[in-house]
Amino acid sequence: MKITACIGSSCHVKGSRAVVEGLKRLINDNDLVDKVELAGAFCLGNCQNGVSVKIDDEIFSVSPDTVEDFFKNEVITRL
Ligand code: FES
Repeated sequence: MKITACIGSSCHVKGSRAVVEGLKRLINDNDLVDKVELAGAFCLGNCQNGVSVKIDDEIFSVSPDTVEDFFKNEVITRL
């Protein structure tokens, strides 16, 4: 699975750095380094909706507060 987190300027302002850190931590904590690839990208064209995170071709809006739930509900369940 490939997760792409937006680090464009609009998402940066909304906390993309904390989201990326959170995703990294969750991937490590859940022992998923071999299964989940985390990449960064500039603007995913979804700026209005918070930090954009893409799983394969689907875009989600994540914030530092929701990254944990996002991981549980959208990442773990797809593996
Ligand atoms: S800056 Fe992240 S979607 Fe545009």
